[in-house]
This record gives sequence, C-alpha cells and structure tokens, in this order.
Amino acid sequence: MSEQLEPVGVIGVGWVGLVTAACFAELGHQVIARDIVPEKVEALSRGEITIHEPGLEELLQRNAERIAFTTEMDELLAGARLLFVCVDTPPTYSGDADLSRVRAVVEELREDGDHVLIMKSTVPAGTGESIRRDKPNLSYVSCPEFLKEGTAVKDFMHPDRVVIGADPGDEGAAEAVEALYKPLGGEILRADVASAEMIKLASNAFLATKISFINEIANVCEEVGADVGQVAEGMGLDERIGPKFLKAGIGWGGSCFGKDTIALKKLAGNSGYHFQLLSAVIDVNELQKRRVVQKLKKHLDSLAGRRVALLGLAFKPDTDDMRDAASLVLAARLEGEGAEVVAYDPVAAERAATLLDSVEMATSAMEALEGADAAVLVTEWPEFAELDWVAAAERMARPVLVDGRNFLDPQKLVKAGFEYEGIGRTALDAPRTASAS
Ligand code: UGA
Repeated sequence: MSEQLEPVGVIGVGWVGLVTAACFAELGHQVIARDIVPEKVEALSRGEITIHEPGLEELLQRNAERIAFTTEMDELLAGARLLFVCVDTPPTYSGDADLSRVRAVVEELREDGDHVLIMKSTVPAGTGESIRRDKPNLSYVSCPEFLKEGTAVKDFMHPDRVVIGADPGDEGAAEAVEALYKPLGGEILRADVASAEMIKLASNAFLATKISFINEIANVCEEVGADVGQVAEGMGLDERIGPKFLKAGIGWGGSCFGKDTIALKKLAGNSGYHFQLLSAVIDVNELQKRRVVQKLKKHLDSLAGRRVALLGLAFKPDTDDMRDAASLVLAARLEGEGAEVVAYDPVAAERAATLLDSVEMATSAMEALEGADAAVLVTEWPEFAELDWVAAAERMARPVLVDGRNFLDPQKLVKAGFEYEGIGRTALDAPRTASAS
C-alpha cells in the first residue's frame, strides 16, 4: 500500500522539517530529507534527535525504514517530486525575514517541469511571486505551517486547517499537495499564493495580539481589583471571541511570534503602510516581562543582593526551546537590579546554560528555592503544580512568589505562607476550572 503513495522530499530538517518528515512517513510515504549540515544528517541517520518535541522520537523510530536523510540535493531530486522547503527565515538587522536560505535552495532546484516546490518556511507575502518570476518553469505551492511547539505532532496529524496557495498554472501541483493532506481530515483552504503567505503572517500576528490584549486587560484588572481569569472566561464564552490564547502572563516568546510580528510590520512598512496596532502589540509584550521586577520590588524594596529563583526557562512547557524566552529578559533585568539569579528547568537547563552563563542552574525546583528571597514561575511545567509548597516556603529565606503564568492556586500558596503575586489576579482569587488555554 505504501508503495502507491507519492514520495515526499523535505529540505531543511530543523524543527518544522523533522516533524513534517516524521508525520508523512507515519502516513505511509517514503520520505527523503535533505540538510546542508553533515553532522545533523549523520546524527539523524543514526536515530539521534537533538530537539525535545513530544512524540517525535517515537515517530522517527517507528518509521525509520521509510525516512532517508542526505546532504545531497541530487539524491533528494531523484527520490521525490514534491519538495517541502522547511529552512529557517530568521530576522535580518532590518527586521525583515532573511530569505537567503530559501534563495539558496531555489538556486539548486532544476526547472524540469516536474518538481514542485512547496513553501513551508514563513516568508513575506510576495516571495512566491518573485520565485516564480525567477524560475518560471518550476511549479510553486505555498503551504504554511501552523504547528505549535510541544504539540507539533498532534497539530500535524489533526490540523484545524491546511492552507494551499497556488496561482493559475499550478493547479495540478496544488492538487498533489491536497492529496497528501486529505487523509488528515482537516479543512483544506485553497487560496492564491500571496493570500496563503498572508494567512500565515496574519494568524501569528493575531494570536500575539490576543495575548498582548489580555495582558493589558490583566494590568487594568490589577488596578481595579478584578480577576483576569474570570474576565477571560466570560469573554471566551462569546463564540466570536473564543476562549483560546486569552491566558494572561509575562508575555509571549518562542521562535515565531517575535520574528513574524516584526516581519509583518516591516513588510507593511516597506510597502508604505504603517501597521500601528502591531507596534503596540510588540511594546506591550516587552513591558509585560519587565513588570515582574516591579512586582518583586513591591515585596523586597531593592533587589540588590537578593537571591531570586526562576522556575522554568523554556518559552513554554514541553519544549527545550529558549528562543525569545521571557526568562532571558527577566534574568538580565534581575541581574541589572543587582540580584543573584538561580534557575531550574526540567528540560531546557542545558540549552539555557549556554545563554545564561551568570545564572546558577539548579537540578530541582526545591534546590533553586533553597535560601531564595523570591521566586518567579516563568514556565508552567506541570511538576510545579505538584511541588510541596509548604516545604518550599520553609526553605526560602522569604517566601515571595510571582506566578508569571497564573498557574498555581493562590489560596494554596497563601496558606503555605507565601506572599503571592499573579498577573491580573489577587491572592484570594480561586483558579477557574474552565481555563482559557
Ligand atoms: C506559534 C503558533 O501558535 C503556531 O500556530 C505557529 O505555527 C508557530 O507559532 C509558528 O509560526 O511556527 P509556538 O511558537 O510553538 O506556536 O507557541 P504558542 O503555543 O503559540 O505560544 C507562544 C507563546 O505565547 C508562548 O510563550 C506562550 O507561553 C504564550 N501564550 C500562549 C500566552 O502567553 N498566553 C496564551 O494564552 C497562549
């Protein structure tokens, strides 16, 4: 049966490429994945993966005989007609997306009228059109990714929607891509290439806006004595608003929201339009991380010489990704105030240690809290909910806790002896069961 399925090629085996390769193999396709870094290709060929993504390792192991890794473009071109481009597009100094890796891949492709370039990398609207201009005989389809780190395998296998952008002349190529995704059952939206490219940028910008919005509401809640959890719940029951991405906290991070919101703002600016709302969305996010310092000062006055424990370092749970993590800004701000920072993360500590060389890394949450004058919950790892907070309070020099994700039960913490600060909630607010996630 698997012999009849169309082979799939993947270019760039970072996080998106690896998930894409593993999931198409799981669906029964032969997959050939190419990367220019020989060490990465060798490690993957030996079955070693270096990123933490739930379910991915098992998927790669289970389908090992269906996935081949190579550094050779010719091997890839010989092995597959449908080629997913999954290379990264980091920001340049100007904030625009750096397309040099995408361009390098396009340069290597043959215009043989057979291969289809399927763009998964996040690119500015207009990229597809310019590639089509340079390589008129190459079939081109835009197929943006909407995977979340930590649940990427699940998101791939059960998509809300799959967006397939193609311009007239590439209908056949779009149908081939549609056939790949059909078994997954999500809604398939066909669009033109520029619109597909915009759907990706607009979706991430909107999600970031939703979070910055609820964070500002949380800040107002603190002024007027309301609880942002209850406010979000009440708002989310309106079907037009929906409950998701209304969790207030110390701001969004990760590899995409920061880079994509700035890239969209720059794209608009380069075209002569000033995207005012996005400027505020980005500013609010920056300020939100820094507000933690004010919250700590409320309890400790000066932070000079104080020992502050960070619980969690990754930009969100279930990943070891430290890109744009709130912990980076927080650690730097705390050290700027003269504090001594100790941190614990169950998965990201090793990666974080290379970025935060002045931060002491603890091997458990309790060890980080030992003798600390205050703690900040940065990442909502489930094990923090299970911690013995009574014992933690006893071990700290002063049990002050800023819950940066509104993750813990304030009443329990206060009972354990903590001076508790959430984001937009009072210490007496009970956590809601129907939480907005
Ligand atoms: C995000 C998008 O959600 C994906 O759809 C998209 O495919 C991906 O970027 C991408 O472009 O590659 P991701 O960065 O993995 O996914 O993480 P999210 O789950 O979206 O979380 C981003 C940040 O927002 C995290 O720091 C998280 O803690 C924060 N967040 C999320 C909140 O502060 N509040 C919320 O209610 C939700």
